[in-house]
Amino acid sequence: MNIDNPSRRMLMTAMAALPMGEAVAAADNEAGGATGKGRPRTLVAFLSRSGNTRVLAGVIHRAELSDLYEIRAARAYPDDYFDTVEQARQQRDTGYLPALRDGPPNMAQYDKVYLGFPVWGETLPPPVRSFLSRIDLRGKTVVPFITHGGYGAGKSAAELAKRAIGAMLKPPLVMEADQERRTTTEVLQWLGKPVPR
Ligand SMILES: Cc1cc2nc3c(=O)[nH]c(=O)nc-3n(C[C@H](O)[C@H](O)[C@H](O)COP(=O)(O)O)c2cc1C
Repeated sequence: MNIDNPSRRMLMTAMAALPMGEAVAAADNEAGGATGKGRPRTLVAFLSRSGNTRVLAGVIHRAELSDLYEIRAARAYPDDYFDTVEQARQQRDTGYLPALRDGPPNMAQYDKVYLGFPVWGETLPPPVRSFLSRIDLRGKTVVPFITHGGYGAGKSAAELAKRAIGAMLKPPLVMEADQERRTTTEVLQWLGKPVPR
């Protein structure tokens, strides 16, 4: 990708800066050039539903020379939080691997992958499992960054270790982040509507 293209550079920077912006697929940041020399060897790959993990991904992407890839299911999850929890639970329990909207980037170009996701049902979200099933991480350094709603990383780090075959897995950053559940619950209560359990 051409770093001398200011509009592209600005677009990519703006995309990475948007906490709740439209998804960013395989976007490059300031690297490359006509010869392709200096292309980032680092990928920041992340899944985010309500924006928390996207903020972390943006910070890492801006701090490290890297490409950015958003893991998105081809079929969007429901808008409703509780419906999403239920769908994710079913997918987890059946081992369903949802199709991804954007094919994974060519991993051969990366040595290091920051992999970010929220904990879903105490483990990896199904689209992250899909992503991991489609890429080869052998010989790569993988640095997880994990957000959760108060119950910790659960089994997600162990699940990741099982699926990142041959990768050099670094200790994860694990962060509690504002929770869509709390927001949804408070607003439903304020409206006097029933709150799903
Ligand atoms: C489907 C679903 C399942 C979740 N399951 C858990 C969980 O098991 N434990 C937990 O602490 N938080 C859970 N959460 C909360 C998220 O992990 C937390 O809010 C996270 O920061 C959301 O990240 P995001 O804004 O990038 O989507 C769940 C959220 C969703 C949408």
